[in-house]
Formats: sequence, structure tokens, C-alpha cells
Amino acid sequence: MIEQKLNELYQKFKSELGGVKDRAAALNLKALYLGKQGPITEILANMKNLSIEERKIVGPIANGLKEKIQQDVEVSLQKFELDEINLSLSQSQNKIDLSLRDSLLAKVQNHGGAHPIWSIQREIEDVFLSMGFEIIDGPHIEDEYHNFEALNIPADHPARDMQDTFWFETEAKPGGFRHLLRTHTSTIQVRGMKQRRPPFRFIAPGKVFRCERTDASHEMVFHQLEGMLVDKNVSVAHLIYFMKTLLSEIFKRDVEVRLRPGFFPFVEPGFELDIKCLLCKGEGCSVCKQVGWVELLPCGMIHPNVLRAGDIDSREWNGFAFGLGLDRLVMMKYAIDDIRHIHSGDLRFVEQFKSY
Ligand code: PHE
Repeated sequence: MIEQKLNELYQKFKSELGGVKDRAAALNLKALYLGKQGPITEILANMKNLSIEERKIVGPIANGLKEKIQQDVEVSLQKFELDEINLSLSQSQNKIDLSLRDSLLAKVQNHGGAHPIWSIQREIEDVFLSMGFEIIDGPHIEDEYHNFEALNIPADHPARDMQDTFWFETEAKPGGFRHLLRTHTSTIQVRGMKQRRPPFRFIAPGKVFRCERTDASHEMVFHQLEGMLVDKNVSVAHLIYFMKTLLSEIFKRDVEVRLRPGFFPFVEPGFELDIKCLLCKGEGCSVCKQVGWVELLPCGMIHPNVLRAGDIDSREWNGFAFGLGLDRLVMMKYAIDDIRHIHSGDLRFVEQFKSY
């Protein structure tokens, strides 16, 4: 019975997938079938009501179906990508003569590859684009206003010491703000808010700078990806949903997360989102410092003062923000035990990630 039902479900999925026209629709269809409220999750959740014999039969079929759906979606995403490339090639005026390619390549002994930070950034951008986010940019050289003041960290607030800052020596103009190298991508929050009216959602990836002593898990230059969503009646549940979707897309499996309270003056409440260590599966190893969890994503609900600094009425609108550490994510994904490798420029390191 249930076998037949699952089979019908798969046929239905296949025919719907056949009608899908673009990447976003394919991802939505996947979410519809495999999401929390989807039919497969429901079948797996109902397994507890079945007898052991029934479970032995239904379990593998349902899991197999889940995998098949994932693979089918992957194939269709690749097809859309190829179609886009072919379309742009067929419309392009400047065609490239590929007959030269082999002879040119023969001369290049050591061609480059994508750096893992860059690759993961692209991957995350894709996930957020499919969820309707814009990607925006901001300056590395910032002023105190955008780095601290507008983020609810006034001049003598002790939270300024949380982020050791590289200051520029030039004096601020009277009544003006001093300049610095941005210590986090949160600087883009206020710039982004002022440029648009709610509801909106954007991400802002980039380099950040801290005047810190380096060690295996600290660098003076590292990468963050800021995210901000402002809308009506946004809750912590929305925040968790977006973060879990992101992490399971990146790691290509369901990841277990936990929220702990965390203090950041620009969010209230603020959280540290940890994921269960993927290397030791929570048993404790050197990467998770034996605790089984890795701190990955500081986040929280945007503080009304910050919304106000962005000219947004905090009685009508609210939202969440997060600051994802890309270096740590790369370290988790590829089991790298020292952040300093990432910027070492050592070819033995970077060549391991060459994908072509
Ligand atoms: N900007 C914070 C940091 O670098 C991270 C953060 C971003 C925390 C957004 C909460 C919300 O430490």
C-alpha cells in the first residue's frame, strides 16, 4: 500500500519537475517535497506508528525516495545552468575562438583555481539569491558611525573593546567621525537600510579586519557574510529556518543546530548559533575543542535603535541579522585545523581545492 503511495508521490514529483522552468522553481519544488511539512517528512515521522516489519520495508523506500528527489533536483539545476550558458553564448556578439585554447593552455604550466573562501561565498550567495535576497557591498575603510555608533555602540561603550580595531591616524574633523578598517560586515546594515524601504532582505559578504594576535583560530583579516531581513512580524523561528536551510545546503545534509544567548549591542535578543561538529559528530575532537559543537553564526533580532538609525519605524517593522564567519565555515567543510593556512598563499594548500 504505502509502497504504491510512495511510488505515486515520486511520479507526481517527476511530472511537476518536468514543468519547472527555472532554478528558483526547482528549489521551491524540492522544499515542497522534502521540507518540514512535506509528505516525505510526514511519512518518516509516522514510522513510529508502524510495526517493526513495516518499518523495515517503508524506511529504506522513503529514504531512497528522498535521495532520488534530491538527485533529480540537482540534475535539473545543472540543466538550467547549462541552458543559461548556452543562451548567453548564442546571444553573445564576441564569440571566442576555442581552437586556440589547447595550444595556449599548453604554454600555461600552472593555471589557477578558485580559492575555497571564494567558492563557498559563491555557493552561499546562490542559496540566498534563491530565497529572494539581494547581494550588496560596502567599503573596507569605514567611519566610527557605521562601524559602531549606528549599531548601538556609543563612544564609551565597553562593547567597543570586543573588536580590536585598526584606526587611521588622521584626526577626525570637528564633530566628525574617525576612520577605521571595518571590524565586521555589520557596517553594511545601516547603509543597506538607508538605501531601501522595507520589506527587504540582503546579504553583504566581505573582508573584515581586527587588530588581534593570530593563532590557529584567529586572523587579522578574515571574511564575514552579513545578512539582514526586515519585514512585519518576523520571529526567531524565521531566523532559525533561514539559518538551517543555509547550513544544510552548504553541507549537503541536515545539520543539528543549537542557539545560545549571545551579546551583540545591535541585536536583542542576540544568539550564538552552534552546529554539531561534523567531523566527530558531536563526540569531541580538536576542531570543536572537545565540546562537540562549533560556534558558527552570531545572530539575533535587530535592535530598535539600529532600525531607527536606518530610518525605519521599529513599531511597524522588525527583522533579524546574522554575521556568518566564512573562514570557519571553510575550516568545518574541509577539516582545516588552522585558519592561518587560508591566507598563507601556500600553493600546496590552495592547490588542493582546484576544481579544474
Ligand atoms: N558583527 C558581529 C561580529 O562580527 C556578528 C553579528 C552580526 C552578530 C549580526 C549579530 C548579528 O561579531
